[in-house]
Amino acid sequence: MKIGPISVEKSSASNFATPRAVLFDAYGTLFDVYSVGLLAEQLFPGHGQALSLLWRDKQIEYTRLVTTSNHGAHYQPFWELTRAALVYAIKRTVPHAASTATPALLESQVERLLNQYRHLSAFPESQAVLSALKARGIVTGILSNGDPAMLQLAVQSAGLEGLLDHVISVDPIRKYKTHPEAYALGEQATGLAASQIAFVSCNAWDALAATWYGYQTLWVNRYHLPFEELGTQPTRSGSSLRDVLDFFPSSSHPVS
Ligand code: LAC
Repeated sequence: MKIGPISVEKSSASNFATPRAVLFDAYGTLFDVYSVGLLAEQLFPGHGQALSLLWRDKQIEYTRLVTTSNHGAHYQPFWELTRAALVYAIKRTVPHAASTATPALLESQVERLLNQYRHLSAFPESQAVLSALKARGIVTGILSNGDPAMLQLAVQSAGLEGLLDHVISVDPIRKYKTHPEAYALGEQATGLAASQIAFVSCNAWDALAATWYGYQTLWVNRYHLPFEELGTQPTRSGSSLRDVLDFFPSSSHPVS
């Protein structure tokens, strides 16, 4: 059997004008969640990777659950969903440890992991790429499921204040990406149409939905994963945030 996309809708970079703004997803895109996996491995040896992958998947699943169910009546801020997803992931991945730990021990493990998540580093190239965009007069920002308090702390911890014109959280509308109202926040904040904005995400589902919404998109595929198999491709794919500079014709200067 031949495995490949049945019909691929081409999304070519040449169909678009040069973007006037770049909006980044936050977690896993600007902020590196790797350190969380390392700590998970220290706390639960042999299970760190499985635990952190399930944590991430569950976190995203919960955003979809509360956005699509019962007209949003069960919305919780991203921080609360992140905590709930972590508790689930521990119980599912290390059930013995979870059931034999005292509530105080489990709580302290949860708190240590959440604290790591609160203070993530930016990927090493983030500052240089944001500076290069600002030097070209490009509007920069974050468009994230994260709630305002956690985004503010992450931006500070990663030393990115001053390099971002907008830090946009979906929290005020109580709907998570991939709801179109969440992507519309990027247009509202910048006063630009989605087609004038490059949206950058490391998450294939986010890059896909942003492309569907009408953004120019860069999928940063750091881990050599396949893209979603739903017939649409991002405008561009790359392996680091530096690849966003390819949207800008004059960006031949390398960024280290
Ligand atoms: C965000 C998550 C989805 O920052 O990475 O929106």
